[in-house]
Order: sequence, then C-alpha cells, then structure tokens
Amino acid sequence: MQFENKIICDGLLNKSLEVKMQKLIIYGPAKLMGEIEVEGAKNAALPILTASILAQNKVIITNIPDIADVRHTIEILKYLGCKVLFENNTVVLDSSSIERFTIPPEYAKLMRSSVLFMGALLSKFRRAELSNHPGGCEIGQRPIDLHISAFRQLGIEVFEHNNRIMCRCDKVKGSEIFLPIPSVGATENIILASIFCDGEVVIKNAAKEPEIADLCHFLNKLGAKIRGAGTHIIKIEGVRKLKSEEVVHKVIPDRIVAGTYLCAVAACGGEVVLKNVFPRHLDSILHILKSSGCKIKELKNEIWIKREERLKGGLRITTHYYPGFPTDLQAPVCSAFAVASGVTIIKETIFENRFKHVPELVKMGADIHVEKDIAVINGVEKLRGCKVFARDLRGGAALFVAGLSAQGVTEVMDADYIDRGYERIEEKYSLLGAKILREKGE
Ligand code: EPZ
Repeated sequence: MQFENKIICDGLLNKSLEVKMQKLIIYGPAKLMGEIEVEGAKNAALPILTASILAQNKVIITNIPDIADVRHTIEILKYLGCKVLFENNTVVLDSSSIERFTIPPEYAKLMRSSVLFMGALLSKFRRAELSNHPGGCEIGQRPIDLHISAFRQLGIEVFEHNNRIMCRCDKVKGSEIFLPIPSVGATENIILASIFCDGEVVIKNAAKEPEIADLCHFLNKLGAKIRGAGTHIIKIEGVRKLKSEEVVHKVIPDRIVAGTYLCAVAACGGEVVLKNVFPRHLDSILHILKSSGCKIKELKNEIWIKREERLKGGLRITTHYYPGFPTDLQAPVCSAFAVASGVTIIKETIFENRFKHVPELVKMGADIHVEKDIAVINGVEKLRGCKVFARDLRGGAALFVAGLSAQGVTEVMDADYIDRGYERIEEKYSLLGAKILREKGE
C-alpha cells in the first residue's frame, strides 16, 4: 500500500460542521434473522491509533471500524504530521514525519479520546498541549482531574489556562499511582505517558476493560514492557526505545456493537448469529438476556441468539465497571425492556446524565420513569413509530433499537451521533431483514 494520502481528511472538520445532521427512517416492526459480522472496537481503535505515533516504523492496524470518531482521530494524526492511509478497515501509518505536539481546539472538542494524545505526545516529545478540554458525548461532567493528578505524580508539569492544558517534563519518573475511580481514559493516558519512564510505573485500581488490554498488547508489540493489563494492577517498566520493526495488529471486536445487536433481537424477536465476536467480553449482557427468556449459545467467536416468546422483565440491572454491566449498553437495554413483560429497574452508576433517551422512548409510548440515577421501566405491549431525536451515541442506538420493534415508521433525527460509533448501521441491520433508509435531516 503506497501513502497517497488517499483520505483527504483536511476538509472533514469543516464538512462535519457544515453538513445538516442525517436521519434514519425505520419501518417497524422488524424480525431480525440471519448472520452478521461484528466490526472492530471503537474504544480500542481510538487509543491504539493514538499510541501509534510512538512507533519507530510503519504500523498496519486491521479491523478498524469505519466510523466518524476514527476519521476524526486520523485527521488529528495527519494534523500532527503523520502519514495515514485508511482503506478497507485497515490503517497504515508512518509517524516518522510527526512534528507537532499541540492539539487545536476544534480537534480537541470533537471527541473525548483526544485527551489520550496528551500521554502519547508526552512520551514522544516530553511536551503536549490540548487547546481545549476534550469534547465527546454530554453524558455527564466528564472531568479529567484524574488524568492531570496522575501526570503530576509522574513528575509532569501541568499548566491549565483558559481551557488550555499544557504539559511538559524532562523525564517521567517511576511512581505508584492509585486511581480512586478505575477510569478507562486515565488508565490509558498514564500507560501512554509512562512507556519511557525512569524505572517502573504501577497503576493501582486500574480499569480492566478489554480495550485497555488490547492497547497494551499493541504497545508491547511496539517494544513496550507492560504487565497486568486487564487486571486492577498494571505495571509499566520504562524502556529506552521501542523496536524498529514494522508492526501489524488486529483490533478486538466491538462488544458494545455486539451487545446492541443482542438487545435488538431481544426487543424485536428473531434468530441471529453474531460472528467475529468474543463472548467472554459480553458475560453480563448474555446473563441478563438468558434470564429474560432469550435462547443463547456461545461458540469461540460466535454467539447464537433466538427470541420467540415476549421478553420477560422484572430484573434489576446496575451499570458497573468491567466486567460488570457496561454503561454503554444501558440505553439499548432500556429499549429492549421497554417492550418486555413486568417492571425492570435500571441503575446508572457511571455517568450522571445518561438517560436522555428516555423522554424520546416515552414519545414512542414507553412507560419509563427516571428518578436521579434510576429508571423504572413498566413494560408495554408495543411501541409506536414517531420522530425522535438522538442526543448522544448510545442514546441514539437505543432509539434505533426501539424503532426496529415499534409499529409504524420511526424517524431518528441527528443520526450522526450513531455514526460516531456504529459502522453503516442501516446497511448492517438491513442484512438481518430490517427496512431502514438514511436521509439528510431537515
Ligand atoms: C470510556 O470513557 C469510553 N470511551 C466510554 O464510552 C465509556 O462509557 C467509559 O469509558 C466507561 O466505560 C472511550 O473509551 C473512548 P472513564 P472515559 O474515564 O474514559 C469519572 C461510548 O459510548 N472520571 O472511565 O471518558 C467520569 O466522569 C463512550 O463509546 C473522573 O471523575 O470514561 C465517569 O463518571 C461513552 N475524573 C467515570 O469516572 C477523570 O479524570 C468513568 O469515566 C476521569 C473520569
């Protein structure tokens, strides 16, 4: 593959700001039947692409989902000076010409994971600047205090001024860092900043999400020395430099995309086989759906699910850090149990403002009451299609799932939120028998 800058990303930012948000038109109710491949994980691809600026040679990363957040990350990499080619879910990247260590505000605002460039740029240049607090879905306050306090414990000077964050250090010092919250982003940023540390950095109460293990797997291929990924104690032994060989890495499957398919079958009924998926990453949702009447079989990289009888509600579901029930599936699960029998209770413990999909589901006839961090769902027989608005990525996916089970036509407005994390969602679900159109928004 030659670097021909095939992807002219330069206009992407302006383009994404200018274009009217799109809408998805869903003709319900659908019965989902067939087989579908699950795409690569957004929340592994983004930190791995960020980490690839540290590579001493070309990297080839496969199974990268073709989603908006990936394209935004590629735009940042190009802005920093990397050569990037993205084709057929494969990124080929050469960071030898990287020259900048500042992320401009318009890029920082685009998505939360832009904050991870801090750790990577600090390892690369001993300097990093984020010209604005990171953006991303407005599902809560989402402070970065844990990132900043950890950087300071690593001997990095951090200056904050007018929303700008500037960091610099001569050397990252070996340290023991205890995270009061097993934050995914803070864990990843500490790892990225500690690759060349003096001695060893130990993270205690680290996040255990599979996406972090995938990032560490990639970094170790580059020549880093990281142990304990996937556990609460991660140790990063500093190295003088990384390997000079080319590195190839395949990103893990997206467990949240897979979980959304499972919720859709639970909501609509049908029989589906998910391929290219790791069932062990989905224990919590598989347990919930089995206890609610879905028939499920797990094979090595496949999951078979069948839902005939009406979904049985009555559970109490609480979001938690991995391997607990993921907050990113809370919204799609709301849509599944909105049409289940009985009363289901969902408690959101990770983000303080992640029930914005509920008023939209109520517009469709759902009977859901939210009190602080708890949603009480009285299952109804049917939902009815109408115009609803996505307010964030997973909330948008929940409205999409509700539209699939609803009677009549559902218009999901501002579907661009969904495109941030789901690859060509209407095409994929059409392969399972659903009828969906994509149109420019009003
Ligand atoms: C990652 O976000 C994911 N994003 C999120 O997925 C996911 O919901 C979240 O982890 C939890 O699993 C990516 O990986 C790109 P956190 P992140 O730091 O890193 C608080 C999706 O839909 N906190 O683990 O931002 C924070 O406010 C997205 O794909 C602090 O207080 O999440 C939250 O309450 C949405 N201070 C909790 O910790 C900090 O410095 C967990 O946040 C950092 C976090």
